[in-house]
Amino acid sequence: MTNVSVIQAQHLQKVYGKKQEKKYTALKDVSFEVQSGDFVGVMGASGSGKTTLLNMLATFDRPTSGTVTIADRDVTSLQGNALADFRAEQMGFIFQDFNLLDNLTVAQNIGLPLSLQGRTVKLTEKVAQIASSLGIKALLEKYPAQLSGGQKQRVACARALINQPKILFGDEPTGALDSKSARSLLELLQEINQQRQTAILLVTHDAFSASFCRRIIFIKDGQIGHELVRQPQQSRTEFYQQILDQLGTFEQ
Ligand SMILES: Nc1ncnc2c1ncn2[C@@H]1O[C@H](COP(=O)(O)OP(=O)(O)OP(=O)(O)O)[C@@H](O)[C@H]1O
Ligand SMILES: [Mg+2]
Repeated sequence: MTNVSVIQAQHLQKVYGKKQEKKYTALKDVSFEVQSGDFVGVMGASGSGKTTLLNMLATFDRPTSGTVTIADRDVTSLQGNALADFRAEQMGFIFQDFNLLDNLTVAQNIGLPLSLQGRTVKLTEKVAQIASSLGIKALLEKYPAQLSGGQKQRVACARALINQPKILFGDEPTGALDSKSARSLLELLQEINQQRQTAILLVTHDAFSASFCRRIIFIKDGQIGHELVRQPQQSRTEFYQQILDQLGTFEQ
């Protein structure tokens, strides 16, 4: 981790509902920073605003007020192709339901972000490289329907990393996995974070997943309620226990 900030969220507010509809304030006033190479978890009860926050940071949606700065650009003002290019260069995404295209092979799915940008130079080579570093080289000619959930999520990770993004966003990426595949994905994310210095922002309601993070932001009713930082000497099991304790105090 470095002291360079890759994400700055300032006074984010998100109100859902158009004029005639009932309005709902999902984010009230959220400010925080993510440093380059950090591994940040976002936790909170269902409906607390986690996905809403991630969608603002990942430029899938715009805040009603406040700003999001990524790699020194105010992304709330980016639009159209400029936004698509910026997103492709800076960020990767993994979701609970994998979002792979069923009619494309694993290799084509992984290479998709490059093909969409018209960057086909060395595509096969790049796909093979990332696939072997994630242990899925043998799957390249298969189709998503032929894969297990854990394998699908590795393919989604490879696709998210093909552009060597500075930031990887995950919204419950272990949500549809069995516990063994979930652990293996979390270990992979930890490795990506440490070896590539990719900043990771992981939304999860699960303390085990969160224990792989270095820092956790707890959202309650659209606001940051608490933060935990894993100390250098602290084991992952100790951090896990601390997260459980924190969740316990939250529910009361
Ligand atoms: N498009 C939308 N229109 C209206 N309300 C919305 C919309 N998206 C989310 N909300 C509301 O905003 C609040 C926060 O939703 P959000 O999806 O961010 O929660 P979450 O913390 O991700 O929950 P979960 O753990 O269930 O995924 C909820 O009350 C939800 O009903
Ligand atoms: Mg959610």
